[in-house]
Order: sequence, then C-alpha cells, then structure tokens
Amino acid sequence: MTGYSGPMRVLSGIQPSGGMHLGNYLGAIRKFVDLQHEYDCLFCVVDMHAITVWQDPAKLREQTFHIAASYLAAGVDPNIAAIFHQSGVRAHAELAWIFNCVARLGWLDRMTQFKDKAGKDKERASVGLYTYPVLQAADILVYKATHVPVGEDQKQHLELSRDIAGKFNHDFKVDDFFPLPEPLIKGPGARVMSLRDGTAKMSKSDASENACIFLKDDADAIARKIKKAKTDPEPLPSETDGLAVRPEAANLVGIYAALSGRTDAQVLAEFGGQGFGVFKPALADLVVDKIAPIGAELNRLEADPGYLAQVLEEGAARAAAVADPIVRDVKEIVGFLV
Ligand code: TYM
Repeated sequence: MTGYSGPMRVLSGIQPSGGMHLGNYLGAIRKFVDLQHEYDCLFCVVDMHAITVWQDPAKLREQTFHIAASYLAAGVDPNIAAIFHQSGVRAHAELAWIFNCVARLGWLDRMTQFKDKAGKDKERASVGLYTYPVLQAADILVYKATHVPVGEDQKQHLELSRDIAGKFNHDFKVDDFFPLPEPLIKGPGARVMSLRDGTAKMSKSDASENACIFLKDDADAIARKIKKAKTDPEPLPSETDGLAVRPEAANLVGIYAALSGRTDAQVLAEFGGQGFGVFKPALADLVVDKIAPIGAELNRLEADPGYLAQVLEEGAARAAAVADPIVRDVKEIVGFLV
C-alpha cells in the first residue's frame, strides 16, 4: 500500500448468478463475518457483473435477494457492515468508465477468466465480459478499500486493480490518492474443488449438481453429495505429502479442515489410515452441522423480501455516502467540471 495513509476499509462482492455454495462460503463470506469486527466493511451483490452474461431479469432480482440473505444468514450484521447491490450505487459505473480509459488492452488480454468464460467463440462474448475486471477495480477503489477478502480465483483480478490504482496515481501525479488494495486470500477454503473432479473449482455452473454443495442443501442432500463424491480406493495418508497426487482426497480433507478450524495435518493425524467409508460420514456430519443452520436461516430470510430490500436500500445509501465524495475528487483530478 506504499504511502497510503487513509482509513483501512474492506470491500468484497459476490455475483447473483446462481446459488451460493460451499466455495463461496469458505473462500469469501466466512471471512466477511470475522472482518466486520476489525474493519469498516462494505459487502456488495454485484448485479452489474452478473449481466456480463445473460441473466433472466426476474431471476436476477431473486438471486440478488438470495446473495443478500446469504450474507445475513452467515452472520454479516447489516448494522455493522453495509450490505448493498452494486447497481444501487451509481459511483461504481462512473468510476468504471474512467478506469476503462486507464486500463490497457494488453492487461485485459491477459485475464484468464475472460478466456475461460468466453470460450472459443469470443466474438460473441459481451464487451462487458471483457471489461469485467475494470468494473471490479472500480468496486474496490470507489471506496478506497485497502483489503479485499476473496477466494484464490480472484487473484489475477486483484492484481489488475492494483495496476489500475497505480497507473491512475502515476498518470495524474496524485501519489497515494488510491491505495493499492491487498487481497485477503490465505487460509483453508481459499480454493474449494468440485466433488466430482478434484482438479476443477467448485462452481455454481457445474453440469453435475452433485459437484457442488449449496448453502440451501438440506441434510439429506449434503450427505448424498458427499457419499457420491469422487475418491480413490486408497485409505487416507497420515501425512499431507500423501495428498499431493490425490486431488479428490486433498479436497475433502481441506473442506474438513476449513470447517473444523484445523489444519490438514491435524485432520490426517485423526483420520490417516482410515478409508473413505469412515471419513465421508464424518465429513457429512460436519458439513451438515455447519451449513444446515445457515441454510435454514437463509430460507427464513428469503421469505421476507421486504426486509431484504430495506437492508439493501439502506446499505446502498451508506455506501454512496462514502463513494460519492471520492468520485467527485476523481472527476476533479481528471479535469471534468464538478
Ligand atoms: P464470484 O461471484 O464468482 O464468487 C464470490 C466469491 O467466492 C469465491 N469463490 C470461491 N472460493 C473458494 N473456492 C471456490 N470454489 C470458490 N468459488 C468462488 C470467489 O473467489 C469470490 O471471493 N469477480 C468476483 C465478484 C466481484 C468482486 C468485486 C470481488 C466483483 N467485484 C470486488 C471482490 C471485490 C466474482 O466473480 O466472484
């Protein structure tokens, strides 16, 4: 963060493009719950990012409430952290345009997520999908956020945000106007893998519904998915080295460690030498114990969209009060009439 001396602030966001899953929970939301007591926090439902690929409008609204309800159900307190929808704070779009003129095409050409999402037919991808990481930089820097809790898959986007902040500061000769935001990635759960393929990230868009544990899954669904999880025939190793070439085993041990607050080594000290016939039921009990109560609270909150709308509206007003003066300063720096 070099010489930046502004307040410490946390921002993160989740796309309302599908059901919230264990990867989102362990990689992101769970960290939000702890961070809210340490920092000034803003947690966003990034609906503008979601529409970079087609979203059914009615479903988009429903999913926006789903993400907001997930934040709350996991323990984010709207009286402490601002919970809001990205499109409810205009400053994101305003700063994104200015950043589109700061970021270089070559930087965006290197973004792996665009390549993955656009696939072979990139001529048909939306322009928004291409400039997606620029909007993400605006999400963060419009609040001068200094810390960004995310899963490992967001690392490259965070590096781009730092590059944009640095280039803006440099080009306009405003040293340390923007902080260079620090990603908060480390810790167990930063990369939860598919239950059907230990080399692929757990993702809401996985073709097999058994690949992904959703926060809304009930105890039976959770137990069934873990029972069906792909494994190998060997018993668990006693040392973490033994997980190196066993991605599925490593993933399940990692999930157990993340949810029980232990290290992989501690989990293997207990389960090493045991087969999956013993480990899977223990893991299923743990996941049910930790996730099912969140799912129940999520269902309760989703039944009250009026309350969720109020949380988002109040959160958006709080967020705008932080962002608007920053965007005003940016416009002045750039040479716009303010
Ligand atoms: P999204 O919506 O794909 O995911 C939301 C958060 O969940 C994390 N995550 C995972 N963590 C561990 N294992 C997994 N399998 C897994 N899958 C997802 C993601 O790393 C993320 O933290 N571009 C972002 C949204 C965004 C954003 C922002 C994030 C927009 N603006 C500003 C931070 C700051 C995204 O698509 O996340």
